[in-house]
Parts: sequence; structure tokens; C-alpha cells
Amino acid sequence: MEWFVRDFDHPLYFEIYQCKEAEAREEGVALAAMLDLPKGSLVLDLPCGWGRLRPALEHRGYRVVGGDLSPLNLSRHQSESPGALVRLDFRQLPLKSGVADGVFCAFTSWGYFASEEENLRQLQEFHRVLRPGGVLLLDLVSRSYLEEGVSRTENIWFNAVGGYRERVRWSPDRRRILTDRIHHGERFRHDIWIPEDQEVLDCLDRAGFEVQAPWGDLEGHPLDGKSERRIYRATSRPTPRA
Ligand SMILES: C[S@@+](CC[C@H](N)C(=O)[O-])C[C@H]1O[C@@H](n2cnc3c(N)ncnc32)[C@H](O)[C@@H]1O
Repeated sequence: MEWFVRDFDHPLYFEIYQCKEAEAREEGVALAAMLDLPKGSLVLDLPCGWGRLRPALEHRGYRVVGGDLSPLNLSRHQSESPGALVRLDFRQLPLKSGVADGVFCAFTSWGYFASEEENLRQLQEFHRVLRPGGVLLLDLVSRSYLEEGVSRTENIWFNAVGGYRERVRWSPDRRRILTDRIHHGERFRHDIWIPEDQEVLDCLDRAGFEVQAPWGDLEGHPLDGKSERRIYRATSRPTPRA
């Protein structure tokens, strides 16, 4: 089974990521503003998770459709923030081409697949469902921030604030970050491709996007070597390059 099918669709996931509930308001308001589309725009929240950012998108006046692979997340989303929801896999979105004005992809939700072809396909699918001129907001952790943080604790088990054990390390080729967690005796393993900045730009270009200079934080400062995030606002070109 691919790691992301189990890790996110487990009741303990909500405990491990509980801190993200408190951050939702600040993140949601800032990221929804960065998407910067007119009121009434149709925005796909992909992936929507348990819907923590949906209120901010709706508050901004967007019409929102959420999509996610995890039935557990979708069910929590429907009870806490009801709205249009679709169960889907990024690699083949069950949505018509050109339907959306925006795709909102928050909290490092790209790079999950084992092959770079599949990760590119996710962006190509985002491009396919956007109308020409539609906008993708892609919010990723910054690679240099991770490199700095992991260098101090790499491969060491520690007690995380949420009450679980955690160990973070790079894959042998240093292209993926492997996060092991043990909580209530259950083991979890996130395995995420962390591309170089230029690789992100190349993939967005190949998928058919025109990218403006990335931001490095929620305040809109430019990306630099100390930024924690890298946030890309990319506009859909009419036809993707091969
Ligand atoms: C880190 S969470 C982010 C959720 C949301 N964007 C947020 O900020 O709260 C990643 C989400 O991606 C979903 N996911 C993982 N793999 C997926 C796939 N192949 N297709 C669609 N969703 C997927 C998970 O179920 C999970 O809800």
C-alpha cells in the first residue's frame, strides 16, 4: 500500500496533526488572499483534508469544492465544514477539463508519489481542470529550511509535542524526507519528495504553468535561503509543453 493511503486515513493522524487546527485561521486567510481570484470564483481545494482551510476560502467569497483521497478526512470535513466534496486521487481527477478558476494546494501536498512522473502528473491534472488563465496556489515547505532543521536531529528519535515519537531523515539520495512516527504503538512513515527550487519551477513549466516569483512566507516576503515555506502562484497557459 502506498504510504499516503494509510497515514492520512487513520484516526491517529488527527492527533498527530492537531497543532494544524490552531494554525488554520492564519494560514487560510493568508493563502486564500495569495490565490487572489475574484469573488464567486470556483476553487478546488486539493487536497482538502478535514476542511480546516475551507472557511477561509469561503470567507474570501470563493465557491469551494474539496477533494481528497481519505474517506476519514472527507467524513470529518462533511460534519465540521459541510460543502461540496469529492473523493479523488491526484493522478486522475474525476473532474471535467477547464472547470475551475483556481486550484488551492496547501501544506506540502505535492511530492507524495514514488516516481517523478506521477508527481508531474498531479500538476498536469491541476492544469487540465483549470480554465486557461486559471490559477494554482502551491504551498510547499522550503527545502533549505528542512535541510537546516533536520541537520540538528537527523535520524534521532525524539518525543514530539503531540505526545508521539518521531524520527526524521533524508533518503540515501537526499531527495526525499522520511518521517517515522510511533503513536499508541502504531507506526507511520511519511515519504515525501522535496525537490530543489529549480525543479519545482521546471515541473510547473512542464505542466503548463507560468509562475510568478515565489513567496517565502505567509506575509508575502520573497523566497530566500531562510524561508520556511515556498508558495507559488502559477497561471495556467492554454496548452502544456510536452
Ligand atoms: C498534509 S494534508 C493537507 C490537507 C489540507 N490541504 C490542509 O492544509 O489541511 C495532505 C492530504 O492529502 C491527501 N492525499 C494524500 N495522497 C493523496 C492522493 N493521492 N490524492 C488525493 N489526496 C491525497 C491526504 O488524505 C491528506 O488529507
